[in-house]
Amino acid sequence: MNIVVLCGGVSTEREISIVSGTQVCMALREQGHRAILLDVFFGDEYVNLMDAFPEDYDAEQAAAFIRQRDAQINSALANPNRSFFGANVTKLCKMADIVFLALHGENGENGKLQAALDLRRIRYTGTGYIGSALAMDKGLTKIMLKAAGVPVPNGFTMTLNDYDTDLTSRGLVYPVVVKVCCGGSSVGVYIAHNGQEYEKALKDAFAIENEVVVEEYICGREFSVGVIDGEALPVIEIAPLDVFYDYRTKYTPGAAIETCPAKLTGEETRRMKQLAVEGYRALCLDAYGRLDFLMDQDGNMYCIEANTLPGMTPTSLMPQEARALGISFPALCEKLVEVSLKKYAKEKRLS
Ligand SMILES: Nc1ncnc2c1ncn2[C@@H]1O[C@H](COP(=O)(O)OP(=O)(O)O)[C@@H](O)[C@H]1O
Ligand SMILES: [Mg+2]
Repeated sequence: MNIVVLCGGVSTEREISIVSGTQVCMALREQGHRAILLDVFFGDEYVNLMDAFPEDYDAEQAAAFIRQRDAQINSALANPNRSFFGANVTKLCKMADIVFLALHGENGENGKLQAALDLRRIRYTGTGYIGSALAMDKGLTKIMLKAAGVPVPNGFTMTLNDYDTDLTSRGLVYPVVVKVCCGGSSVGVYIAHNGQEYEKALKDAFAIENEVVVEEYICGREFSVGVIDGEALPVIEIAPLDVFYDYRTKYTPGAAIETCPAKLTGEETRRMKQLAVEGYRALCLDAYGRLDFLMDQDGNMYCIEANTLPGMTPTSLMPQEARALGISFPALCEKLVEVSLKKYAKEKRLS
C-alpha cells in the first residue's frame, strides 16, 4: 500500500510525533509498504507528486529534514492565512491508501483533523472525530466513563466563569490534582496539598486553558492498557523513579520502570482489561487506543485518561504490550493499519 505517515505539526508534542512517525514509517516499509513521512504543517518538500511514494526511501533523512523546519513554525503561524495543512498535504493524503496518524496532542489528536479528513474522504488510522474529541477532553472523559460504570477519581470541571477556591463545597479534601482539560504529557498537571498550593495550581492551569479538572489524588500504582479493535493487550505498570510521572520521565528511557505484563493478580488483570475495553467503548474509540489507570492500596481501580494516538516508538507503552504477546513493532503497525481499514469496509445493514 501507499501510506502517508503524518507527523510533526505545531503541537507541544511535535518532537515525539516526529520520533513516532519515523519509527512507524520504517516499520511499514519493512512490511513492504511504500510509506512516506509527511509533516502536516509543511509538505512543500514534495515537489514531484507523481513519484511521491518511491520504492527507495530514507525515513531518517526525511525526519532530519522535517526537524530543520522547527525554527520556521512561529513565523509561519504568524501568517493569518496559514492553514493547519501545509502545501500538498491533503493532496498527498488523498493519493495514499491510508494515512497513518503519528501526530500527538492538540490538533491531530482532538478530532478536528479526523473530521477534516472525513470530509475529504481520506482514510486514516485510529479513532474518528467524536471519540478523539471526547478522549482529548478530560472533563468529558470523566462524564462518559462514569456513565458507563468505569470508575474515575471523584472530581469536577471548573471554568473561569465558576472559579471558586473552596474545595469542601465540592466534596473533595486535599491532596487534589488539578489538570488542564485538554493538555497532555503532564503539561498543566499539578498536585495541591493545601489551599495555598491549590490557588497557585488553579492560577497556573488557567494561564494555559480556560477549563480545568480538579480531582482527588489517588495514591497508588499506575498502569496502562492498550486496546486494539476492542481487545485489551497485556497490562503494563509504570513505576516512576520520580514522585510524579512527568514529561521528562515519560520520554527519558530508564527514568521509569515499566513492567509488562504487570505484576497483578489474575483477577486484577482481568478487571483492568475489562475496564479498559468498557472505557474504549464508552468513549467511542475505534481501531485502537490506550487507557491509563491508577490503583490504590485497597485495589480500587480508576481510569484517569484515554489516549487515542498513543506513543508509537518501539519502546512506547503500547508497542511494549504488543511485544509481550509476541507481536513485533512492524507487525503492530501493520495490524493498526488493518483494523483501521475495517472502518471503511462497506457498512453492514440489517436485511
Ligand atoms: N487523580 C490522580 N491522582 C494521582 N495522580 C494522578 C492523578 N491524575 C493524574 N495523575 C498523575 O499525573 C500524570 C498525568 O496525568 P494525566 O491525567 O495522565 O494527564 P496527561 O494527559 O498530561 O498525561 C499521570 O500519569 C499520573 O501519574
Ligand atoms: Mg497521561
